[in-house]
Amino acid sequence: MKRIGILTAGGDTPALNATIHGAVMRANQLKVEIIGLIKGFNCLFNPRVPHVHLNPLYQEIPELDPTKGGTLIGSSRDYVDPDKKNELDHIESRLKKLGIEGLICIGGDGTLNGLQPIAERLPTVLAPKTIDNDLGLNHPSEPDEWVRVNDATAKQGYRYKRAESSAVFDLDQFVNYATPGYATSVFVSAGGVERIRTTAESHRRIAIIEVMGRHSGYIALGSAYGRPDIILVPEHAPDLEQLAERVKHLYDLQKNVVIVCGEGIVDSQGRELGAETRSTDPAGNVVLSGASEALRAKLIQMIPDRYFQLYRRGDTAKEAIFTRKVGHTQRGGRPILFDRFYAAQLGAKAVELLTEGRNNAVSILQYTSAKGFHVEGYDANRFRDRWGLIHARQMHPALYDPKLMKPSKLGIEYLLPIFTDAIGEDDMEHMRQTLFAAGNLSQPYHSINTDVHKRIRYLEGES
Ligand code: F6P
Repeated sequence: MKRIGILTAGGDTPALNATIHGAVMRANQLKVEIIGLIKGFNCLFNPRVPHVHLNPLYQEIPELDPTKGGTLIGSSRDYVDPDKKNELDHIESRLKKLGIEGLICIGGDGTLNGLQPIAERLPTVLAPKTIDNDLGLNHPSEPDEWVRVNDATAKQGYRYKRAESSAVFDLDQFVNYATPGYATSVFVSAGGVERIRTTAESHRRIAIIEVMGRHSGYIALGSAYGRPDIILVPEHAPDLEQLAERVKHLYDLQKNVVIVCGEGIVDSQGRELGAETRSTDPAGNVVLSGASEALRAKLIQMIPDRYFQLYRRGDTAKEAIFTRKVGHTQRGGRPILFDRFYAAQLGAKAVELLTEGRNNAVSILQYTSAKGFHVEGYDANRFRDRWGLIHARQMHPALYDPKLMKPSKLGIEYLLPIFTDAIGEDDMEHMRQTLFAAGNLSQPYHSINTDVHKRIRYLEGES
């Protein structure tokens, strides 16, 4: 294999450039050219196929900085429709015209679903990324647990449901223990929780902090490092009575409460609290916009104003209970050491999968207590259920203690290998040296896009 294409799809994460860098470094050793395809799958719908040669003369271009968040080749949420044969023919011929013999897609579960039709025409592999940590399996037979149940309200008349698992949960059995981007998002979220605590403490308030993760509670779980009092995850519908009691107990004791909620938390009927307006993004994902606000409304209903007046800690529940979203800050910026290091290895492994002749495979990050972290190749079909669909991994319920509303003992065991030593000394030093650099005040921001634009080439003969 002499020339490989690479693209980044879906929401950005801090470790995308690190994955690309790892792929390019390995390709340099193997004397393989790497062509970056601009803006994810979107590039393949464009007859001109904007692209950039990432390693001319087998040397990485200087713009490719593994410590920079985001992706220098851009991303989009476009996906290939397997039913549009004509479109697929065009994509195949465009990639062939470019001399691309294999394709690496850096993405999450949506990307893995989307690359299948391309893998039927050209060797294609996935290097994982997602802050949600939902590309993976809690155990290898998890895809077999999905069943279809009739549902008249669903588009196709059915929906997917996970049947009761018969697997014994064991951390060593995880497939893809952590995805690049997850550690940095927890780093930002836990830091945010710590900072909001001081306002809650000083002003006798109840803070509800919403973190991302869609229907998976891994980011919320990890935010335990910021020491919130209560963590709510999408995998366990909170018992609202119990929650209000716990909030009051803590408020009586310490005059402030900090709650973290995953954006995908549900009520006892399984309805997403944050998706009152049911809209979807271009990839079909439900847009979750207001879990913390919905939760605040419930607590305001359940804890009357007179409760706050009684303690002379404010006039109303509305005044005392406030919400904050960590938002896109948890998806951006410099990746911390853990993400950079393993993202690079996963990118390198993706190149090896292609050069070794594997197709429709995924480079994964494994952890066992005996071996520590290591990368492997995994057949993409092993992520698919019997209908060929890949489901986002939810946090395994055993990692959470619904009574304490915090990580369980096993949850703590899960988090420790990722986060102990996840921050490098250089991460802190980088901040010390750059954040208040005098030039930040006088020089305009110089975007990577400006430089990469000068390197973009187009497919010849196309207009
Ligand atoms: O999948 C990554 C993610 O950050 C989710 O956690 C979140 O729900 C979503 O993407 C936000 O997407 P957007 O950037 O389109 O607002």
